Amino acid sequence: MPKAKAKLKTLLIKLQQEKKYRATTSQTLHPYKKPKPSSNVRKQIKPPPYHPDDNILLVGEGNFSFARTLAESILYTGHNIIATSYDTKEILIKKYDDAQSNINIFIECGGQVLYQVDATKLENCKELKNKRFDKIVFNFPHTGLGIKDQDRNILANQLLIHSFLKSSLNFLTSRKIYSDNKDGEIHITMKTGLPYDHWNIRKLIKSIENLGIKETFDFNPNLYPGYEHRRTLGFKEGVSKKGNEEILEKNPRTFVIVMKEVLLDEEIKRNDDANDEDDDSFVMKSKKVIKGKKKKNNTV
Ligand SMILES: C[S@@+](CC[C@H](N)C(=O)[O-])C[C@H]1O[C@@H](n2cnc3c(N)ncnc32)[C@H](O)[C@@H]1O
Repeated sequence: MPKAKAKLKTLLIKLQQEKKYRATTSQTLHPYKKPKPSSNVRKQIKPPPYHPDDNILLVGEGNFSFARTLAESILYTGHNIIATSYDTKEILIKKYDDAQSNINIFIECGGQVLYQVDATKLENCKELKNKRFDKIVFNFPHTGLGIKDQDRNILANQLLIHSFLKSSLNFLTSRKIYSDNKDGEIHITMKTGLPYDHWNIRKLIKSIENLGIKETFDFNPNLYPGYEHRRTLGFKEGVSKKGNEEILEKNPRTFVIVMKEVLLDEEIKRNDDANDEDDDSFVMKSKKVIKGKKKKNNTV
């Protein structure tokens, strides 16, 4: 096929995907529409914060159902998604009986799968060398080491998250540093309540010099049809809960983490906008005063 024709075909496919994506997301809530003001901000439903143009890295996948639904039902493409597992392929297939079929569909959508990727040492993964991502996602990080002592268990999970954050920092896109199109985000979704609140994720994030929290929102698994959360140890009949019962009862929350400079830029922009609004209201007020004066003059 001549080059121009192939380019046109790719463009048409992209446009189709974008159309499908927009149709679905507008049925729920469009990610790029400003939410209506509400008195209870915490309860607002946030639609999946992913776009077909995003380069996405998923780490710590369990049965790959999140990767599959993201590619198959949310973005209608997996071409920009790399989904990774900490386990070897053999162990993964043994742990999760639905992993292979999820992986097959994810790959059919164009996604790439990598095994034995340690989220705390992403720099050791040769396939990720020189790559940067708009979204790096770790859903429900957990070491799964089965440490009985609560303090040691918390510490082990804190170390996992801290090292993951430090490692992924080097794989984030940045407009300022690399002239990328977007500023990258790290998404960590966690259960809330005890013992998870003791992991103190906010403090962990703040302890890393270059990172800050952009926003947090409730994670609603129902927005990801087919996604089924799994424990690190796999699915055990009679022990593990079916569907997403386990996470639903723990009110999961997503933390969106960005480079500090992005937060600073946003703050400056917000202040500018606020000033613009002040200016606007000043202009409106002045116009009203002038109008009032004119009316007065007319009546005299
Ligand atoms: C509670 S499971 C969640 C699985 C999946 N993300 C989900 O939402 O169903 C925790 C996951 O973290 C992974 N994990 C633990 N330590 C890891 C590490 N150092 N690097 C990458 N993944 C890790 C485990 O293999 C497991 O898949």
